[in-house]
Amino acid sequence: MPRKTERIQEESSSKDLTAVNFVANMSYCESDPMQRKIRVGVIFGGRSGEHEVSLASARSIMAAIDREAYDVVPLGITHAGQWLTSGDPMAVLSAGRSATLDTGLAATHPATTGRELVPGATGEAFPPLDVIFPVLHGPYGEDGTVQGLFELAGVPYVGCGVLASALAMDKIASKELFAAHGLPVTAGRAVKRKAWEAEPEAVLNGLEAALGYPMFVKPANLGSSIGISKARDRDGLRAALDEAARYDRKLLVEEAVPNAREIECSVLGNDDPIASAPGEIVASNEFYDYAAKYIDGKSQLLIPAPISADIAAQVQELAVRAFRAIDGAGLARVDFLLNGVTGELYLSEINSLPGFTEISMYPKLWEASGLPYRELIDRLIELALERHTDCGRSLTAYNGAMPAG
Ligand SMILES: Nc1ncnc2c1ncn2[C@@H]1O[C@H](COP(=O)(O)OP(=O)(O)O)[C@@H](O)[C@H]1O
Ligand SMILES: [Mg+2]
Repeated sequence: MPRKTERIQEESSSKDLTAVNFVANMSYCESDPMQRKIRVGVIFGGRSGEHEVSLASARSIMAAIDREAYDVVPLGITHAGQWLTSGDPMAVLSAGRSATLDTGLAATHPATTGRELVPGATGEAFPPLDVIFPVLHGPYGEDGTVQGLFELAGVPYVGCGVLASALAMDKIASKELFAAHGLPVTAGRAVKRKAWEAEPEAVLNGLEAALGYPMFVKPANLGSSIGISKARDRDGLRAALDEAARYDRKLLVEEAVPNAREIECSVLGNDDPIASAPGEIVASNEFYDYAAKYIDGKSQLLIPAPISADIAAQVQELAVRAFRAIDGAGLARVDFLLNGVTGELYLSEINSLPGFTEISMYPKLWEASGLPYRELIDRLIELALERHTDCGRSLTAYNGAMPAG
């Protein structure tokens, strides 16, 4: 069999069987690894506003994945954080039955309310897995938390590690990091919710002194444009800060890029990441807000982006540098704002688990760059196993001579 099975064998020999296995109990001995398929746990749903987007992405992945090479184990997480590890979690979550299920389970299984490290809503053992594909967007999925669980369990997983995921999720931390790496970002200021509540006029004065209108106000750790608004004056800024403060304790205020065009680029790889051809989003609203993303269906994806070869090359170079800055792994979609007046390019954000349906920007850009959807899934799994092996090479204890005296 091809490389995939060789990797499994490699993995099995480097696996630390003494690690506390919170999530998976990988047993390679029950069958000959050369004979069997790779068991991929696809995790979807989750405690996030992007729960439904996650279901759509996971459905696409499970429909397209090469069944000759992989056994797929579907794993669902309800809105309330219950893990569904057996049966048909996709059918349960797709039917919108998770709310009833959550209530029912909360009553019958009071200990499994999503706060335990051993998931499994119905208490059954976790299925054995070789690799996990977390198809989760937003908090508790894209932010390093679930990645931490996989690290503890010693299970390889697709995508960025704990630090890169957390950095990508936090718009303030990533902006500061990008600026430190000399990457072009818009002028912005961070505001703590407590400061806003304690001294609103001082906060408004400080922002007006530092930034010009219009401004964008955002919760630091969210996605899908939730809690984001554009402020044109002091009253608007007040309302925008109140709105963003409903979602997070840290807020980011940025100067708006005039006539912004939205350019996106897909990055793939571990230590030698590569960038796809860039694409462009033409938002159906004044900016790419929640409705324009998910509701009215009128926003357009232009692939490739109608930009000059020179700007496309800049986008690709900056996308790879942004990916390296966060120490990304596997995949990320890097989003830019292009000043429609001056042609200046700004790095806007990096998404460590971008939408992954067959018609989403991330895979579409790879398809346009010569990598079809099914092969992209293969490559991501391969990268997950590679990274796990590489991390496994590091010593976990001091192994040198003790200093004298
Ligand atoms: N500084 C800015 N200038 C112009 N438009 C912006 C700016 N910041 C955000 N936007 C608009 O708001 C949208 C959502 O902001 P973004 O930072 O991408 O948050 P999210 O993580 O929710 O996608 C962007 O796609 C863009 O349309
Ligand atoms: Mg965005």
